[in-house]
Amino acid sequence: MPSVRFLSLFTLVLSSITHTFAQRQCNGNAAYCSRSYSNISFVGSHDSAFVGSEPSDNQDLSLTDQMNLGIRFLQGQTHKNILGDLDLCHTSCLLLDAGKLETYLGTVKSFLDSNANEVITLLLTNGDSLDVSEFDTAFKNSGINTYAFVPSSNPLPIGSWPNLGDMIDAGTRLVVFLDYGADESKVNYILNEFNYYFETPYDVTDSSFNECNIDRPSGASADGRMYIVNHFLDEDILGIDVPDRGAASTTNADQGTGSIGAQSDLCEGLYGRAPNVVLLDWSGTGDAMKAQGELNGL
Ligand SMILES: *[C@@H]1O[C@H](CO)[C@@H](O)[C@H](O)[C@H]1NC(C)=O
Repeated sequence: MPSVRFLSLFTLVLSSITHTFAQRQCNGNAAYCSRSYSNISFVGSHDSAFVGSEPSDNQDLSLTDQMNLGIRFLQGQTHKNILGDLDLCHTSCLLLDAGKLETYLGTVKSFLDSNANEVITLLLTNGDSLDVSEFDTAFKNSGINTYAFVPSSNPLPIGSWPNLGDMIDAGTRLVVFLDYGADESKVNYILNEFNYYFETPYDVTDSSFNECNIDRPSGASADGRMYIVNHFLDEDILGIDVPDRGAASTTNADQGTGSIGAQSDLCEGLYGRAPNVVLLDWSGTGDAMKAQGELNGL
C-alpha cells in the first residue's frame, strides 16, 4: 500500500503538471482569475438588445454573438409596453421593442450555463422609474438570479471587489446594476449603478471623442468609483440623434483619432487608471476585443 504521504506528493505533482499545461482561464484569460473585478477594463455593448438595421438599432451582432465575441458587459434600456410587459425598448416601446427582459435574461443565462468560467455584467436602465421588484421578478422568472453576485457590504468599496477566479468559484458570475431605482434592502443583487460608477457624457456627436468629463452623477468625485466611458457616436439627422453606423469602424478602432485607445488614454491621463467600461455601439465592427486586451495590458 502506498503511504498517504506518497499519495499526497503524487497528487501535488500531478496538479502542478495539470496547472502548467491547462492553466485556468477566467473570461478567456488566466490573468483575470487573480485580478480584482474593479481593476478590469471591459469593452461593453451599449443598447445590446437593439440588433438590426433600423435607424434606432445599435448593434450588428445578436446578443449571443456579442457574448461569443467576448463582450462581457451588456447595457440595456428597459420600458413597459402597452401590455404592461417589462421589455427592452428604445426610448419608447412604440419606437422599438426588442422583446421581454425575461427572454433577454434567459439568453444570457444560457450563455452562463454553458460557459462556466465567464463573468458577465448587466447594466440596465429604468426608463419608466419602476419599482425594483419588477426587475427582480424578471430575473427570477428567467432563473438567472441564481448566478447573481451579492456584495458583502453596501456599497462595496472599490478596493474590496473579489477577483474573477473567486467569483467563478463562488458561482456568482453575474453582476447587475440598475441606473435608477435600485434598493439593495429590497433586492440585494440589483446594485445602484451610481454608487459604483461615474459615466462620461453620452449622445456624443463629435467623432474625436476628445474629452472624458464626469457627466453622471453630476458633481461626483472620481475617487472611489469605477467609471464607464460612453464611446459611441451619434449623428444628428433632422434634429434626432441616431447611432452612426457608418463611422463604426473608426469609432471602434483600437488606435487613431477618435478611437477606443485614444479616448481611453485621455481618461487614464485624467483619472490615473484605465476605464472600467468602454461602451460601444456596433461592437462587432472594429477592434473591440483587441482594445480590451490592450486596456488590460494583455
Ligand atoms: C488596474 O491596475 C493597474 C495597476 O495599478 C492600472 O495601471 C490600471 O489602470 C488599473 N485598471 C483599472 C481598470 O482600474
